[in-house]
Amino acid sequence: MPPVASQNESEDVAADSRIKPSDSISYWSDHPPTVNSMLGGYPQISRTDLRGSASFYAKLLRKHPSVASGKPVIGVDCGAGIGRITAGFLSTVCDVVDFVEPVEAFALEVKKQQMEGKGLVGKGWVESLENWAPEKGRYDLIWIQWCTLYLTDVQLVDCLKKCRNAINVPHGWIVVKENTSKSIELGGDGKDVYDEDDSSVTRTETKFLKIFDDAGLNVMAKETQRGFPKSLGLFPVRTYALRPR
Ligand SMILES: C[S@@+](CC[C@H](N)C(=O)[O-])C[C@H]1O[C@@H](n2cnc3c(N)ncnc32)[C@H](O)[C@@H]1O
Repeated sequence: MPPVASQNESEDVAADSRIKPSDSISYWSDHPPTVNSMLGGYPQISRTDLRGSASFYAKLLRKHPSVASGKPVIGVDCGAGIGRITAGFLSTVCDVVDFVEPVEAFALEVKKQQMEGKGLVGKGWVESLENWAPEKGRYDLIWIQWCTLYLTDVQLVDCLKKCRNAINVPHGWIVVKENTSKSIELGGDGKDVYDEDDSSVTRTETKFLKIFDDAGLNVMAKETQRGFPKSLGLFPVRTYALRPR
């Protein structure tokens, strides 16, 4: 990803047209299965990130109390990496957590967690998000973090449409937590930013809102992650809770 603004950024009107999935996968395949890798060399932000996610989700459920459906709460960790979010957050709010992760070595770590009883892992797909075909109505929570940047705009809209059909209506949630490119007020150029290191695109908030709208989703809540050290120069990280229109 990495979550920090890279020196290799370059502008492009259609920044996403430069994404090459094979380059992203080989970037990640060259990284060891560690929290350090997952967080671009800043493992110290994991705790703050997980706490921020837990607090965002708790507030969401308080604001939109869901009627108990009597079935296990099923979540899915999309672009799961080594299962950092499954182990540190999703397993505390779901009875079962599925995962989708294209890099086999990372997926094996998630499965290992399951065997060690650290996360409540359900089904797993060693697959890219754009190729994933989720089951209709299965999920109470679809968590997509730090991996939408590997999909083109069209792929992301298509993926979110599939997720829209995969949530357990009316209780379910799709949550996207992602780096956003800096607005002009924050010293950025207000454009989507391509990073050739991992062949990814960091999008503006405006672009995300358009993508959600194109996918037929309403933004029910949003928040900017606080508490990451300013000295790291990270992109602003935003979390969006989405539901079908
Ligand atoms: C920055 S890591 C984040 C992992 C995890 N979400 C976390 O926050 O700990 C990015 C992950 O996205 C995965 N990834 C790369 N391309 C992807 C794609 N097309 N679909 C889904 N995941 C992808 C990588 O293999 C890697 O595990």
